[in-house]
Amino acid sequence: MDKEEHIILSWQANAVSWLDIVQSGGIESRKLVTNQAIVNAVIAVKPASVLDIGCGEGWLAKKLYDQGIRVSGIDIVPGFIEKAKEKVVGEFFVASYEDIASKSVSFSLLFDAIVINFALLGKESTENLLSSLPQYLNGNGKLFIQTLHPYSRKEMGDYTTGWKPGGWEGLPGQFTIPYQWYFRTLGDWTQLLKDSGFYEVHITETKHPVSGKLSSVIFTCSI
Ligand SMILES: C[S@@+](CC[C@H](N)C(=O)[O-])C[C@H]1O[C@@H](n2cnc3c(N)ncnc32)[C@H](O)[C@@H]1O
Repeated sequence: MDKEEHIILSWQANAVSWLDIVQSGGIESRKLVTNQAIVNAVIAVKPASVLDIGCGEGWLAKKLYDQGIRVSGIDIVPGFIEKAKEKVVGEFFVASYEDIASKSVSFSLLFDAIVINFALLGKESTENLLSSLPQYLNGNGKLFIQTLHPYSRKEMGDYTTGWKPGGWEGLPGQFTIPYQWYFRTLGDWTQLLKDSGFYEVHITETKHPVSGKLSSVIFTCSI
């Protein structure tokens, strides 16, 4: 099994544990910083429609929906899409990033914004997905990506783009089947976004309010 398939298998196997942890607010950085940061970033551009890619159980879709935004979403885990559909009335599909890249999923509209929150975990799946996204956006549409701040790996003495072990590291709960995930330096993220057809890439950094450590980065990308 290749690394990309392994990521999907792991998410399918750990779906119930993930639901427990998200629904109970069990990830401190999300509660304190990153959830509100991505909501604020998206809402700031006043989109009428948003596509949430790798939407998980739909917490972000719901926050945006409650603002009167028309929200669609996709995720590879059927149980997550079921939960998202309970929260939001909209077009939600069980689909992979490859399905989006190959245009196997059809939405009834182009979007003012696409958001991907902590959901880009692989190499080719990410590259193929990102280069397909401009065609899903309206002319002045924006892509928002939130990911772990790349500098967190500087402290570990390994600031190099590549596959890294430990997909569930640091999470409380019963997680199995650890997977490798593909890390990118800040420079490699920016280059990839530009190579994918996003000509302007704006970077926002979030910090943990107690430790002051960099927490996440949000890329706001224009076509
Ligand atoms: C860390 S979770 C984030 C979920 C959600 N965006 C959130 O903020 O809670 C990563 C999500 O990406 C989804 N995912 C990972 N690889 C995928 C792929 N290749 N195709 C579709 N979904 C994928 C997983 O199923 C999971 O829901």
